Amino acid sequence: MTTVLRAVKADITTLRIDAIVNAANSSLLGGGGVDGAIHRAAGPELLEACRLLGGCATGDAKLTRGFRLPAKYVIHTVGPVWRGGREGEPLQLAACYQHSLDVAFAHGVRSLAFPGISSGVFGYPVEAAADIAVRTVQEFLRTNGSFDEIIFCCFSEGDLGVYEWLLAPASRAVP
Ligand code: AR6
Repeated sequence: MTTVLRAVKADITTLRIDAIVNAANSSLLGGGGVDGAIHRAAGPELLEACRLLGGCATGDAKLTRGFRLPAKYVIHTVGPVWRGGREGEPLQLAACYQHSLDVAFAHGVRSLAFPGISSGVFGYPVEAAADIAVRTVQEFLRTNGSFDEIIFCCFSEGDLGVYEWLLAPASRAVP
């Protein structure tokens, strides 16, 4: 089975899908950016569920229900803070995608949406982060199995353009 990979511009909290990924911090107790939006939309039960998880290491991923979200599950992962790229950030960011996919697969998730992990408050340059996101997902699908659909959910036109370019390599050959 082929997994559909696509980029969309949307508020991830509105997606009617099996699971959305949250770009959280290691406390898992909420924050700004997409984390804040997910907690607001899911309601206070999400914070209660997160308290029971005891935090999350950078690169790891943990699952909760989606509560008031249209998504059934939220997979919370913690991206690296960008420190120039030579302190293990690429491997840590790839681990976020790998572990989120592992957790999704283990729970029977068939459709999943990622935000641009680390490329907001944590400062990871979007082109480099998106390249890792797309390559890590493609590698997972080659070696581990398929989903129905994986969405790269962008919050700006600029980010959407980066993902669309990465997902359409054939179009790059056209002058
Ligand atoms: N839907 C989709 N994408 C969004 C949304 C949304 N509703 N809101 C923001 N984005 P960030 P990080 C995009 O800063 O860099 C939090 O305080 C945003 O444009 O949310 O991993 C956590 O608690 C960007 O492309 O996450 C941590 O402390 C992407 O989501 C810290 O920020 C990620 O931006 C994590 O920083």
